[in-house]
Amino acid sequence: MNPEFWHKCWERNTIGFHQPSVHQFLTEQVTNLLGSEGSANAEKPNIFIPLCGKSLDMLWWAEQGNVVGSELSDIACQDFFSENQLTPEVTSEGEHQLYQFANLAIYQGDFFQLMPTQFPRFDYIYDRAALIALPPALRQQYVNHLASFIAEGTALVLINLEYPAGELEGPPFTISADLVHQLFSDFDVTEVAVRDLQGDQFASRALPVSKLTERLFLIKR
Ligand SMILES: C[S@@+](CC[C@H](N)C(=O)[O-])C[C@H]1O[C@@H](n2cnc3c(N)ncnc32)[C@H](O)[C@@H]1O
Repeated sequence: MNPEFWHKCWERNTIGFHQPSVHQFLTEQVTNLLGSEGSANAEKPNIFIPLCGKSLDMLWWAEQGNVVGSELSDIACQDFFSENQLTPEVTSEGEHQLYQFANLAIYQGDFFQLMPTQFPRFDYIYDRAALIALPPALRQQYVNHLASFIAEGTALVLINLEYPAGELEGPPFTISADLVHQLFSDFDVTEVAVRDLQGDQFASRALPVSKLTERLFLIKR
């Protein structure tokens, strides 16, 4: 998927991946993990959300701590703040535009141009519909870059999506549990929860597949 593909999705509002509410795994599973994981940060945890779109999950995470999102589309950034009745300050940060409101920041531009040295250590990284959005050719590059943000003590909260191979031309691409283990073979990978998506419904799209499963993983160094 080149940047043009995503810009067109946002221009045409073909954003079937966008969820109308906070992801169930956050409210039902991750909420319990937060207590047990704790934070090395004495104050609020720092949370990084790559390829964040205008996800409402950012609001849930902002209740837990300081959120930094990364998103290519300026439309997504503007919509996120306006649809949630927030007026961000917008400044330039190198090649990125930085949208900021209180403890919510989104770097608009290319994720691959963001460097971990720009930020304090992240306590959590949240990937919902980022890894599965990228074609196989970009996958390892994405994981390598993501890994550079995973410090000692960082927990990557990853939600994958799996359907029988060959049944759909992505995005979203199918990522099996085995592939998650393979991609993060240098890390400690724990599968926390699994659920079958009823009606093969992925956010606002019903996918033409015979089975659709989401899994929640916790990944650490
Ligand atoms: C499938 S959507 C998922 C959005 C969000 N995570 C969610 O759950 O709704 C993938 C998002 O990644 C963004 N994106 C794609 N390539 C990117 C890149 N190189 N840097 C930053 N964002 C990118 C797209 O614009 C799109 O909003």
